[in-house]
Amino acid sequence: MKQEWKELDTPSLLLNKGILMENIRKMGDFARVRNVNLRPHIKTHKSVEIAKLQLEDGAIGITTAKLEEAEVMAAAGVKDILVAYPISNTAKIERVIALLNQGIDLKVTVDNLEQVKLLQKALEKTRHTLEVWIKVNSGLNRCGVEPGASAVELAKAIILLSRLQIGGIFTHAGHSYGARGEEELERIALAEADAVVKSAELCEKAGIPILVRSVGSTPTYRISGLVDGITEVRPGNAVFFDSIQVGLGVADRSECALTVLASVVGVYKDRIVLDTGSKTLCLDKGAHGLDSVKGYGYVVDHPELTIERLSEEHGVAVFESSCGLRLNDKVRIIPNHACTVANMFDEYVVLEGEHVVEKWKVDARGMRK
Ligand SMILES: Cc1ncc(COP(=O)(O)O)c(C=O)c1O
Repeated sequence: MKQEWKELDTPSLLLNKGILMENIRKMGDFARVRNVNLRPHIKTHKSVEIAKLQLEDGAIGITTAKLEEAEVMAAAGVKDILVAYPISNTAKIERVIALLNQGIDLKVTVDNLEQVKLLQKALEKTRHTLEVWIKVNSGLNRCGVEPGASAVELAKAIILLSRLQIGGIFTHAGHSYGARGEEELERIALAEADAVVKSAELCEKAGIPILVRSVGSTPTYRISGLVDGITEVRPGNAVFFDSIQVGLGVADRSECALTVLASVVGVYKDRIVLDTGSKTLCLDKGAHGLDSVKGYGYVVDHPELTIERLSEEHGVAVFESSCGLRLNDKVRIIPNHACTVANMFDEYVVLEGEHVVEKWKVDARGMRK
């Protein structure tokens, strides 16, 4: 007899395989129908097993946020990897070179002149040429050269460097998470695509071909990915979805593949305590504090509960009149931010229906040196 999720000890990270496969297929279908490439961001799941499912479904390669994620995926046989993060210190450049030595088709993010010079200098000591993708800022105001003239200026500097080759231009409209309504979301998504297409066209006018024009965040990719001139999308969170995406109106609760299994460890007159604190559910309430995200996760089948406070190992859920839960009862929680929650666990407990069918490692979790 297969084990049921209700029999698991807590906290556990439950992954509904049917919903996961459907989410993977929906991302793939978007790319197939719209004739763009899909390069999912694997920082959401950090799992070799899930990356392979995405590649089997037709993803062209993967995106990572950290070099460590790239190393884990490369060791598992993934060949085509974009590290969507600027790399400029010596220790990290050495590791980039080690990945090139292994034959990985690695692309690294650049957004300034000093950085490209450091990469060039290190590469000169090797037999390799490194593919770099220019990151442009489309409004998130995190990393990225400004789109347009500044991007062209950087591209002109790169083509003079013998060991670097420009593979593409990309951006990430992470500020879409703060969008108040559909109209604002659409505006951000169109600006995301425009920043990339405009920069690529200006580069091409200057005689520098830009083959890959890549956009992507879960809230925007289905809009920015439709714009003429865009060749690639990079959704991450859409593989699981979560309460923040539900709050944004980007996903329905029925599309959320990941839940945290929690036990009731205390029952009081106006609250219960769950064994899921900030070291399990994390403190995210959305990048910009979404009004529609209530508490620290959505307790499935218990809309009367709000997880109001977290300490490290306690989650305090309040209710108005009663909630019917008793000591040792188990509940599932759709986390606010699936990516950070997955990073807190060693493994996914994979479910088909009510039953545990597999356990998959969260292979690239943690990794802070
Ligand atoms: C460069 C880049 N691309 C893609 C993504 C994926 O975004 P999301 O998880 O919203 O799909 C991220 C997320 O941080 C990112 O930084």
